[in-house]
Amino acid sequence: MQTKIAPSILSADFSVMGETVKKLEACGADLIHCDVMDGSFVDPITFGGQMIKNIRPLTKLPLDAHLMIEHPKTQIKFFAEAGADIITVHYKACKKISDTYLEETLKLIKSYGLKCGAVVNPDVPVENIFPVFPLCDMVLLMSVYPGYGGQKFIPEVLDKIEKAREYAKFIGRPEMDIEIDGGVTLDNAAQIRVAGANVLVAGSAVFNAPDMSAAIDGLRK
Ligand code: DX5
Ligand code: ZN
Repeated sequence: MQTKIAPSILSADFSVMGETVKKLEACGADLIHCDVMDGSFVDPITFGGQMIKNIRPLTKLPLDAHLMIEHPKTQIKFFAEAGADIITVHYKACKKISDTYLEETLKLIKSYGLKCGAVVNPDVPVENIFPVFPLCDMVLLMSVYPGYGGQKFIPEVLDKIEKAREYAKFIGRPEMDIEIDGGVTLDNAAQIRVAGANVLVAGSAVFNAPDMSAAIDGLRK
């Protein structure tokens, strides 16, 4: 399977975001990963739909909106209208509302014609989202606790990647996108790919590199 690299603009300089997004496309990024944080589900606040709307005309790359927010269902309309291509929502944020909220939110995302995905934190078994795998275009396994860039990769997630890939095959979706987010570096990217992930989010590994293009290439190969 082809590996896709999704640089996280959380690590970018927000004052020159437009230029950065164009540069990421020129450097070979496959998706633009947009970390939306609400100051409640996670402590920091980053940006909302306005950022997506502003960068939308500047790139042809899919915008991958990772919603680290409470009550995600109430926000889907805004991110869809802003121009997101993929929206992922956290299992934990949904589960605390009701047992059916995750499924309802994924269906709502799809009703806008967008790709959808469920996200699990490092301490949540991937089996918890098996019931929604058939609805998901992508599953996102966090390899750090969400909230901040620049954290260390939690290696226990490698087992979860294998389980997720096996289950995707079992349900007849061998090519399903499995995305890893947090602490991805040139040193661990190969292991992550071998375990079965095909979408790698990278914040620091891309933005702190002397050459973004070489970093993106390196993560992919
Ligand atoms: C963490 C975010 C990640 C983060 C990745 O809450 O979801 O996307 O920005 O940054 P690095 O690659 O630096 O861990
Ligand atoms: Zn993210």
